[in-house]
Amino acid sequence: MVGRIYNFSAGPCTLPLEALERARDQFVDYRGTGMSLIEMSHRSKMVDGVHCRAIELVRELLSVPDDFSVLFLGGGATMQFSMIPANLLRDGASADYTHSGSWAKKAIADAKRLGKVNVIWSGEEANFTTLPEPSSVTAGDGAAYLHLTSNETIGGIQWKDFPNVDVPLVSDMSSDIFSRPLPLERFGIVYAGAQKNIGPAGVGLVLIRRDMLERCPDDMPLYQNYRKHADANSMLNTPPVFQIWMISLVLEWLLGQGGLSWAQQMAEQRSALLYAMIDKHSGFYRCPVNRSVASVMNVVWRCPGEELEAQFIAEAAEQGMNGLKGHRSVGGCRASIYNAMPIEGAQALAQFMDDFAQKHG
Ligand SMILES: Cc1ncc(COP(=O)(O)O)c(C=O)c1O
Repeated sequence: MVGRIYNFSAGPCTLPLEALERARDQFVDYRGTGMSLIEMSHRSKMVDGVHCRAIELVRELLSVPDDFSVLFLGGGATMQFSMIPANLLRDGASADYTHSGSWAKKAIADAKRLGKVNVIWSGEEANFTTLPEPSSVTAGDGAAYLHLTSNETIGGIQWKDFPNVDVPLVSDMSSDIFSRPLPLERFGIVYAGAQKNIGPAGVGLVLIRRDMLERCPDDMPLYQNYRKHADANSMLNTPPVFQIWMISLVLEWLLGQGGLSWAQQMAEQRSALLYAMIDKHSGFYRCPVNRSVASVMNVVWRCPGEELEAQFIAEAAEQGMNGLKGHRSVGGCRASIYNAMPIEGAQALAQFMDDFAQKHG
């Protein structure tokens, strides 16, 4: 930890030190080639090796079934908000969406620009503090897919299980992918911006099932067509090589730690420390979300008044804990505790929360 702080930012966020160091060590002269990886042709053996290894790691860690393609696409998760309906909502097709907060809202807005959208559940009246019981969710007749946001990074709520419906699920998993095993057989598409549990920003990871690819129209603009990307093993154009390389290093690290079961266990432990401190000082801290769906990746809470919140954030920063300000749209405090956050970081924050509440409560 020499010279490094505990970075609780929501993404971009803390990445495994080991991955950063490996990139640093290999950055200028990649494996004795006299060049950096990012200076090489993307058609070279070296780049292809890294590209294929990154895909292989995604497959291994998430147990991706053979009938899924793994793609790394430019434009982050936001690009997927429009690419999904552009591919799947042609010719009057409709899709069902669940509206769970800020990120679902963006996915819905883009889908509405391109096709018919039925919002089958909305948490708006409850101020996005809760989610439906997964078993109560049903898809409408003829929906092309049912979209959900597995973890609302800003609101701090997370689907603990997923609906089991007759249509393929499509999910934005930007802020909790690789934090738990997934029932991928229920999903047609899973996508995620990389900048939380995967690597640097700017790239979206997409897992897409073959029958979804078969629905992609031929007359789509080239880059927007999932099938063209899948046919080219995600090298349709010059790929974001640096991001993909970092992803391979981060996932290699995750595999070495013990993969998804390790990640899940650690996420439970880290978040339990923070929720326990909120509960211990329940007259001081207040967690605005329904506890049964409270996120293990983004823990949100309020202090009594904005002044104390500002003081909390400033004093924590002085102690080497950064990025604790809630999103500007909701205020309050938020700790993003992704895979790369060491348990010591969560312990240090819990201790700070304890001390702060005792001092000001
Ligand atoms: C749940 C969720 N979806 C989508 C996005 C947007 O990702 P990107 O900036 O990669 O487009 C974010 C960003 O942080 C997010 O948390």
